[in-house]
Amino acid sequence: MSLEEFYRHFRWWMEPGDDGALRRFKAIVSFFEGQEVAASKVLDLCAGTGIAGVAAAKALSASELTLVETRKEDMEKVREWLEIAGINPKLSLVAGDVLKLPSLVGKHDLAVLWGHTMPHFDPFQAVTLFSGVASVLSDDGAFFIEETDRIKRFLFGSSYRDFLVERRTPEYVLVSLHEGYDVRRGVERRGYYRLPGFERIADMELRLWDLASQLALGRIFFREAELITPGEHGVSEVLVFRRPKGKIAREVYSEPQNSMGV
Ligand SMILES: C[S@@+](CC[C@H](N)C(=O)[O-])C[C@H]1O[C@@H](n2cnc3c(N)ncnc32)[C@H](O)[C@@H]1O
Repeated sequence: MSLEEFYRHFRWWMEPGDDGALRRFKAIVSFFEGQEVAASKVLDLCAGTGIAGVAAAKALSASELTLVETRKEDMEKVREWLEIAGINPKLSLVAGDVLKLPSLVGKHDLAVLWGHTMPHFDPFQAVTLFSGVASVLSDDGAFFIEETDRIKRFLFGSSYRDFLVERRTPEYVLVSLHEGYDVRRGVERRGYYRLPGFERIADMELRLWDLASQLALGRIFFREAELITPGEHGVSEVLVFRRPKGKIAREVYSEPQNSMGV
């Protein structure tokens, strides 16, 4: 199914005539009003109808607004959002793929990727997207992504959360319970108990990685990344990284890495 067909049926809340979309629009305006960010050139990526770009441009009194979106049809509706917002920035509509960003747009101060859009990109495309955005932003520019943590919503929101029998031995049964989730670090807090007796034996913080994210991360620091799928060797999937990029790796290694950016 094409992206056009998908969004025709999915009906995301971004139509200017829709009450829910208008509530979203107002919420985005007030979000950006509360941010310490200055921008005269706003770039709305995967813009849809441009709801987020217009909201950010209004909140920050931007003089230029650029939308990048593959589906032209929706992008034209940005004029209705501008009318609702009562603003008139210099407008550029770019019909294209955000993964080719540096060839599509010039420098901007603020880029927004709004509306839980990251599922459209695999981890490798995510690296292209991020590096592309970083290269079209001014030195003091900022990139804002509205997202949700799907591990939390879909996985822990369903079966895995409740109660898991981890090991069954003749002497005891080891069970684990979901006891919380740290959104910033992307780790689950899990308590482990021994039955019978329900004796607490461990607190763990665990990250549920997928393979592709690890490959993509490794690809930043190595020129080659490969996944060997299980064969006759009796091992699971094996990720192989070759030809390290020493300079980038050393530079990043020297910076503290955590989700708070401090
Ligand atoms: C969930 S909608 C979000 C729209 C809008 N940002 C909002 O907040 O309402 C995601 C949008 O991304 C667009 N899109 C998906 N992949 C794209 C790509 N590679 N380049 C440009 N636009 C893309 C889709 O056509 C769709 O309009």
